[in-house]
Amino acid sequence: MTKPIAIFFAETHLDDIREVEGKIAIFATEDGKIDTGARRVNRLTRGAVLRLLEAERWGKVKPGEGVVLGFPAGLAAQAVMVMKLPRRPDVALARKAGANLAKFKSDEALLTLGGNITRLDQLALGLALRAYAFTDHKSGDDDKAEEPEAVTIMCGKPDEMTEAAAPALALAEGVFFTRDLVSEPANVLTTTEFAARLSAMTDIGLKVETLEEKDMEKLGMGALLGVGQGSDAPSKLVIMTWSGGADEAPLALVGKGVVFDTGGISLKPAAGMEDMTMDMGGAGVVAGVMRAVALRKAKANVVGVVGLVENMPGPNAQRPGDVVTSMKGDTIEVINTDAEGRLVLADAMWYTQDRFKPAAMVDLATLTGAIIIGLGHENAGVFSNDDAFCTAFLKAAEAEGEGAWRMPLGAAYDKMLKSGIADMKNVGGRPAGSITAAQFLQRFVAEDTPWIHLDIAGVASVKSETAYAPKGATGWGVLALDRLIRDRYEAKE
Ligand code: BES
Ligand code: ZN
Ligand code: ZN
Repeated sequence: MTKPIAIFFAETHLDDIREVEGKIAIFATEDGKIDTGARRVNRLTRGAVLRLLEAERWGKVKPGEGVVLGFPAGLAAQAVMVMKLPRRPDVALARKAGANLAKFKSDEALLTLGGNITRLDQLALGLALRAYAFTDHKSGDDDKAEEPEAVTIMCGKPDEMTEAAAPALALAEGVFFTRDLVSEPANVLTTTEFAARLSAMTDIGLKVETLEEKDMEKLGMGALLGVGQGSDAPSKLVIMTWSGGADEAPLALVGKGVVFDTGGISLKPAAGMEDMTMDMGGAGVVAGVMRAVALRKAKANVVGVVGLVENMPGPNAQRPGDVVTSMKGDTIEVINTDAEGRLVLADAMWYTQDRFKPAAMVDLATLTGAIIIGLGHENAGVFSNDDAFCTAFLKAAEAEGEGAWRMPLGAAYDKMLKSGIADMKNVGGRPAGSITAAQFLQRFVAEDTPWIHLDIAGVASVKSETAYAPKGATGWGVLALDRLIRDRYEAKE
């Protein structure tokens, strides 16, 4: 597993600055004010810092960004970044500063003179998130085995800071868990390997159970099992429980975990099919949130359920036109075997509600290409049967800088799922493809369960870097859902 880089908070020892190798970061305010640490760097570099702050260039630097002085005379360090930051940045700015420090750091050790800047925990989170790299399958790199160079943040009260930053770093670990799962190729992250990685989280206090195919047969999960029947990889349903609250009903998170989506007999075109290794992104986010809440010992009850299957063509694969019976009892005509995520979720969601009677349920899935056409890679599609719950989620996502945009539901869309021979068909045609997918899911949501469906096909993995991640898996949703749990489900101190 990719571990977040080590970030240490330490006492401020200005006498160490001259000899520090690697890189150094200092802060200055908009109007060029600097603290004692930065003043020391200025003195050692014979005034280079003040010359920068007095130059016109400083006025053009945005808060959270900086100017790099390379191989400065008077220091052993390779480079000093002078970053523009107010003494009390808000959360977003502190994280942005951290992310930019991660880029500046690159592979070197970094000493940051934090002085008395507030929200250093959030700065550390931004730094940790942006420093992610998935290198497990790179060979021939001798340094690979070594731990990446650490970050030291000199500040007042380092012990208190270390404690204060622990929840933020737990979150980073949750996000990394998601990103690793999403990045992993399908020959490595089989359904069995995925379940094993989840089971290993009993280590951090989660209860983890796995239902095998025979268990799901007994429960009548014909929709989920139909998707996996073309693959040699056994289908599984993994249930993770975190009981940090009292005896209240849990929040349930349900994830689509298609470890690879070929489309099945309705085979996808070759170009770009390799991207379908991320089709377990919903399950990946559920796993990451469960890891984060366990690591930070959240005072809440949360259950995470993921349906793990592989969608393959083959002699046993489900055919277009097959009719399957879901655990709920409703029958489904499978018009297109590539619309498999909703079949997996139908049974996973019904099982979750039947067993846990959750206070609310969120499902996450890389469900439709249509959501990418609608919203691109900036926003996940949000669908809900409960305005208050939905608003709370949208607020949490906004606060965490994770794009989310509400989409409509309605009876007219639901009608598009009418089947001639079964209770419904699994596709509604090209128009409003993401909405008809959500309508399909809603048929498996009990009337009184507040529910949100998140279509994350556009945001789970992206082709260019984002504010807090290099290109590839983003971990979108872990921060927003963790915040939703904190705001709405967690006992206040
Ligand atoms: N896994 C795909 C959706 C997807 C597309 C995820 C692009 C990430 C990036 C899903 O199972 C799928 O194939 N959906 C079909 C549905 C259609 C057959 C109704 C789609 O979107 O084309
Ligand atoms: Zn598909
Ligand atoms: Zn899929």
